[in-house]
Amino acid sequence: MEKLSWNDKFLTGNLIIDDHHKKLFVLFDQLISVNEKTPDKELEVLKIIDEFIDYTVYHFNAEKEIAQFLHLDLFNEHDSEHSKFTYTVQNFKKRLSVDYSESVKNELGFYIYNWIGFHILTEDKKIFTLTLK
Ligand SMILES: [Fe+2]
Ligand SMILES: [Fe+2]
Repeated sequence: MEKLSWNDKFLTGNLIIDDHHKKLFVLFDQLISVNEKTPDKELEVLKIIDEFIDYTVYHFNAEKEIAQFLHLDLFNEHDSEHSKFTYTVQNFKKRLSVDYSESVKNELGFYIYNWIGFHILTEDKKIFTLTLK
């Protein structure tokens, strides 16, 4: 699994959203470190995936509240991308519960890595930099 390193290109300019995104990067790094240090500790890895999912849901709700507060009607499609992501990560967790293998873990890492980078740089930036104007 590849680490996500924070870089200011990920800033949306909305302080709350940016703080949440930094925390998501930290949680993802934790997931990778635990997996590297304790590859056999299935329960520990599954627990961190749960924490990651919980924080993701919290963050997506915060984005929704901010968008509703600002009457951003672009948000419906954005919200369904969030739901797809949460659903997919939950499915990976279920798969890992029955097949705790390096290949499934790598697939999960690759999915999160790509989704988060792309989503923040394109979708979140498009929506939340609007809040600055
Ligand atoms: Fe976000
Ligand atoms: Fe988002």
